[in-house]
Amino acid sequence: MSEPAVKVHSVAVADASLGEAVEEGLAREPRAIPPKFFYDRRGSELFDAICRQPEYYPTRTETAILERHAGEIAAHCGTDCRLVEFGSGASRKIRILLDALQPASYTGLDISGDFLLDSTRRLAVDHPWLEVHALCADFTRPFHLPEARGQGRLAFFPGSSIGNFEPVEARALLSRIAGELGTGGRLLIGVDRKKDPAILDAAYNDARGLTAAFNRNLLERMRRELDAEIETMGFAHRAFYNRDAGRVEMHLEARSPQAIRLGHRAFAFAPGETIHTENSYKYTPAEFESLAGAAGFEPDGFWTDSRGLFGVHLLRVSA
Ligand code: AVJ
Repeated sequence: MSEPAVKVHSVAVADASLGEAVEEGLAREPRAIPPKFFYDRRGSELFDAICRQPEYYPTRTETAILERHAGEIAAHCGTDCRLVEFGSGASRKIRILLDALQPASYTGLDISGDFLLDSTRRLAVDHPWLEVHALCADFTRPFHLPEARGQGRLAFFPGSSIGNFEPVEARALLSRIAGELGTGGRLLIGVDRKKDPAILDAAYNDARGLTAAFNRNLLERMRRELDAEIETMGFAHRAFYNRDAGRVEMHLEARSPQAIRLGHRAFAFAPGETIHTENSYKYTPAEFESLAGAAGFEPDGFWTDSRGLFGVHLLRVSA
């Protein structure tokens, strides 16, 4: 039996290394390291485990919304489209849509090449009728989609990954996606909603401590990959909802005076001083529609769960 074909495209990913990001981020005031550095193999495994925790509602809620409304979503989008997934990762959620949508082609886009290739191959094996492309690219930078079959373009951006961006950056990214889709193109995007802060606090402080381990893995990475000297247990996991900013913040907080040594540099921490490791913005449906509107999209559909925890927006590029 022959291997199902996956057309592989790759865009050179010239990105800040962990070393540069850490040196720069620890020298800054306040100290901050971008959340994309959570995701080495161990970090990706921890994130997967977080998604299965009872307190972490986003993944299971979004999946249930997609399962429940796949038919209706497909009715809006039509069959035979050209489907592109942003940050496809393990490509689990897309499987829910494929049978209902019957797209002409699928393009998975991810920064992690190996992971992307594995998951698109599996997708091709399970859907022999589908033309499958893999594009290894950092979608926060300029890129162009490869030629692929299909009438009309549909982008899928699940997981509320958009929440990791500052709202102005989120708008800029959505504008670029709109430009890439062209007039009439559609975007199906999962967005975590504003809600009772107690639910958010629980989701980012799970009882088993997996989110804490995920956060602290950044320190472990510095030790493993940069030979940094750090007392990792000297830093506590902190996650809380910042109501004024409308986001969950994650920090690593020095429990006592700490020092991180990196090469011949040392970064001193007073007790309570933090490294800011993640923002996860939450949007009301109206707030997100207005952000998307500023990026050139008009609303075309909206689905949520009975508790109003998570929103799935269908948007259309306006003329
Ligand atoms: C992958 C960005 C959607 O913000 O909820 C999970 C990452 N951080 N627990 C999120 C995350 C802590 C997640 N996103």
